[in-house]
Amino acid sequence: MSDALADSTRDALLAAARAVRARAHAPYSRFAVGAAVLDEQGRIHTGCNVENAAYPQGWCAETSAIAAMVAAGGRRITAVAVCAVADEPVTPCGGCRQRIREFADDDCPILVADEHALRARFTLGQLLPCSFGPTHLPR
Ligand code: THU
Repeated sequence: MSDALADSTRDALLAAARAVRARAHAPYSRFAVGAAVLDEQGRIHTGCNVENAAYPQGWCAETSAIAAMVAAGGRRITAVAVCAVADEPVTPCGGCRQRIREFADDDCPILVADEHALRARFTLGQLLPCSFGPTHLPR
């Protein structure tokens, strides 16, 4: 069960998201985000948001982390951590929820943190209920 996240793994995931946030390329929004995903082999992959002068061409931290996981051979996401600084906990945007959905089960934990601490904890199913996914397509 992906929900059975060990404390040490959770802490490592949060630390990784926090660290990679420092590398965000966010000169336009000034809103730096770091993300870390845990794969089925227990490996952590990280990514930050990468903005662009042609604004719509930028992408989110979660997207970067998922791309890093796939490139490293990871095939399933068993936990996600997002780190950003805002008044309210920063959850993945709608598009990133769907991208996570491609590789994760409904019970996948999504941890939301700021630079100091865990702020909130959700499951993918809570953030993206009744979702469309790979099993809907004909095999
Ligand atoms: N952003 C992320 O990277 N992840 C999120 O979960 C929310 C938003 C980025 C996109 C953009 O570079 C900046 O934050 C402001 O929206």
